[in-house]
Formats: sequence, C-alpha cells, structure tokens
Amino acid sequence: MPEKITIHTLAEKKALGEKITSVTTYDYPSALLADRAGIDVALVGDSVSMAVAGRENTLAATIDEMIYHTRAVRRGITRALLVADMPFGSYHISEADAVGNAVRLVKEGGAEAVKLEGGQRQAPLVERLARSEIPVMGHIGLTPQSVNVLGGYRVQGKTLEAGRELLEDARALAAAGAFALVLEGIPREIAAWITAETSVPTIGIGAGPDCDGQVLVWHDLLGLHFGHTAKFVRRYADLAGEIERALERYVRDVRGGSFPSDSESYHLPEAERQRLALELEKATPATSGTR
Ligand code: KIV
Repeated sequence: MPEKITIHTLAEKKALGEKITSVTTYDYPSALLADRAGIDVALVGDSVSMAVAGRENTLAATIDEMIYHTRAVRRGITRALLVADMPFGSYHISEADAVGNAVRLVKEGGAEAVKLEGGQRQAPLVERLARSEIPVMGHIGLTPQSVNVLGGYRVQGKTLEAGRELLEDARALAAAGAFALVLEGIPREIAAWITAETSVPTIGIGAGPDCDGQVLVWHDLLGLHFGHTAKFVRRYADLAGEIERALERYVRDVRGGSFPSDSESYHLPEAERQRLALELEKATPATSGTR
C-alpha cells in the first residue's frame, strides 16, 4: 500500500525539491484513475460547474453540489490528499457560515482540506478554519470566482508592484496557516519569486514550471474540453475524439443489426428453449389462420 499523502507530505516534498502533482477530479472514476496514476492531490474544483455542468463560469456552483462531487471522489481515493473547493458564496457571508460550510465538506463530503480564493483579506478566515482543525489551501492570482471584478479571465501580477502584492498575499495566507497555495494565471517570474519566498508549497496552473507543483483541470488534460483552450494547457489525450469515434461505431452497429450479437445475448436453458419452440409451433397456425 503506497504512503498516504497528507498536508505534511506536501511540505516534505517542497523541502526535498520533489514536484507535487495535482489534477481536478469530480467523480468516482476520475478519482480512482487519478489515485492509481500516483496523483498527490485530488482537487474537487468548483470548475466542475463549467467542465461537467457546462456553465459559463464557476459562480453558480453550490455547497451541496460540491459535497455531492466530493463524496463521489472520496469513494475512489485511497492515497491522494482530497481537497474540496469552497464555492462562491459559501465563505462570503459570515465567518460562522464559512466554518459551517467547510465543516460540511469535511464531514459530509470526506474532504481532508478545503480551498478558497483570495489573498490578504482571507487571512483571518484561513486562521479561523485552521483553528477549527480544517486545513486550508489558498488560491491567488487569477481567481475565477472574481471574474466579474477582474473583468474576465486575465493574467494577474503583470508588473513588479502587482507581483509584490501577490507575494504579500502568499505570505499573509501562509502566516495564517494555509498549508499550500494555488498560483493561477501569473507570469512565470512572479510565480518563481513567490515560490522561493514562501514557506508553504505552491501549486501552479498557468504560472510556469518553477512552482513546487502543478495542477490541471481533468477535462483540459485529457482533451474533453470543447471551448477555447488556454495557452498553459497541455493535452495528454484526445478523449473527446476517442469517445466520439466509439459512439459513431455504436450507432452504426445498432443500425446495421450487428449489435448485439448472439454471444452478447442471454439464452434460455435448453429445456426451456424446447418448450418455447413447441409453444411457438402451436401458436403459428392460429396466428396465420386469422389473416
Ligand atoms: O476549480 C478548479 O478547478 C481550480 C483549479 C483550476 C486550481 O481551482
């Protein structure tokens, strides 16, 4: 049985210079496959709202949806660290509400940690959750839940000043007790700076190769994505093409009568088959007589 990944394993990996691997997972099969492949962090991202539910952004994801997906992922994971996203609105109303929602992700979903978006302004909440025994992963840079404030999905930290502000965000979250940080959509140089200057592991997405680890969205990585593909995505498979070709073959076989074949059918036991044959023989003259 391979060693279970915990928040401490990630810290050890940073110290040893070993890269951390992460991918989003939203259901039992994706979780099982990610775990088998040796992924360190299975992230139930609120990107489920776009990748699975086909919504335009992540804002409509609800805490109940996140619990449902986290529970499914829980059943497929034995080794990876299971982190669940806190969706928009689940930590924006009050601290008590946020703690209640994070507790639900752990208690009902089986998450081992939660992730939330935002920098210095979220530090008090990260501290509060850490005091409630809930490990928190921070998320700074291009934070998709802020799409309406950012004015779109734009790369962040494009000046030295903006980069320094992101570094302050990272430091504040780490000081508040965050065990790791997602750095999304920021220049490579800024991500490298933050990674070097921050005590906790950084996991990048669109943040270059110098982060302590990398995360990608399941559907992007496997070629199951239908819209625009961001510059930072590397596709490791063309599952959409594979699935489409398989479905076309299925349609052809059903229409042509070659599926299902006799060997893909259940059969009556021999004695019952003979009884049925007699029954049909008796029935045939009566049927033809009515014509
Ligand atoms: O929701 C998500 O999938 C994420 C990752 C992109 C980091 O937050």
